[in-house]
Amino acid sequence: MSAFPIILGIESSCDDTAAAVIQNRKILSNVVANQKIHQSYGGVVPELASRAHQQNIVPVVNEALKQAGIHSGQLSGIAFTRGPGLMGSLLVGSSFAKSLSMSLDIPLIEVNHMAGHILAHFIDDANENSPEFPFLCLTVSGGHTQIVKIKDYFDMEILGETIDDAAGEAFDKAGKILGLDYPSGPIIDKLAKEGNPEKFKFSKPKVEELNFSFSGLKTAILYFIQKEVKENPNFIQENLNDLCASIQKTIVDILMQKLISASEKTGIKQVAIAGGVSANSEIRNRLKKMEMEKGWNVFIPKFEYTTDNAAMIAMAGQLKFEQSEFAGLDAQSVSKYTI
Ligand code: KG4
Ligand code: ZN
Repeated sequence: MSAFPIILGIESSCDDTAAAVIQNRKILSNVVANQKIHQSYGGVVPELASRAHQQNIVPVVNEALKQAGIHSGQLSGIAFTRGPGLMGSLLVGSSFAKSLSMSLDIPLIEVNHMAGHILAHFIDDANENSPEFPFLCLTVSGGHTQIVKIKDYFDMEILGETIDDAAGEAFDKAGKILGLDYPSGPIIDKLAKEGNPEKFKFSKPKVEELNFSFSGLKTAILYFIQKEVKENPNFIQENLNDLCASIQKTIVDILMQKLISASEKTGIKQVAIAGGVSANSEIRNRLKKMEMEKGWNVFIPKFEYTTDNAAMIAMAGQLKFEQSEFAGLDAQSVSKYTI
């Protein structure tokens, strides 16, 4: 085995139990156990999430080591998500990481989940080329919506973020109103392909600076649907594709408008995206268009590195390991944790 350190990453901030092994920026394994249990509740139930993490964590880590073709004695360090996230979920990952680091007598590394999403862009096969500093990253998922300026690996500045719901939540809540399954983002994306995005107009929020708001949109959709269904009980079924296309366009318009302002304000044209919503085909198309229209250099990493995963935690862990930035065994999980 070469001299490069081997880092295990553990991610358990929300409803995915994940473990990954990295060496010299190359992912040797990337295992995720999704928790299907939340589907029937239409959202993540924190109590159920922590119980499922406890059930999954040992098999997921064992599988990650097995797929990487290594045994635990070959590990050089253990990185875990310290926050932000659900406290009960975070505690499972951090307690496990601490125990393992103690038993193997190797360093423990704490990672900020949001920084992890961004640093995933530096994984060897995430993009054709890695972004250069400084760059902007739009992190959009079921739990987050942020525009971040990245000056260096661990020198980041939040330029704007949501003041209420996340963009993924906006997709999921709109889907719930339309009677779609959870998570609704991918379903809306699929149905929108057959719909007319101009058919229905929803007003966009006026939020200061580079911040976002999505809760008003959810209410606007709810009132609009209630009014229409009163007149025509089949309104949703008869207009489902157009509704999906129009809602998707509104959400993507809101995101793109702020991202364009961020680029104009900072003069930065290197723009990356992270988080589960980056799978959305409309946002991908619109970002690609910006390459032609505004000369942006756009970074859209492989899908498995954009949703919640442990490869991103392992990547961030490797960078911190190189700087000997280790955590103590008394490191506390934190539900709110700014980058
Ligand atoms: O990053 P992620 O897997 O987990 C976290 O929330 O942290 O993101 C999940 C979110 C959900 O809200 C889901 O509806 C949304 O990403 N999503 C999408 C698409 N695929 C996933 N939203 C829009 N279009 C998609 N294709
Ligand atoms: Zn996330």
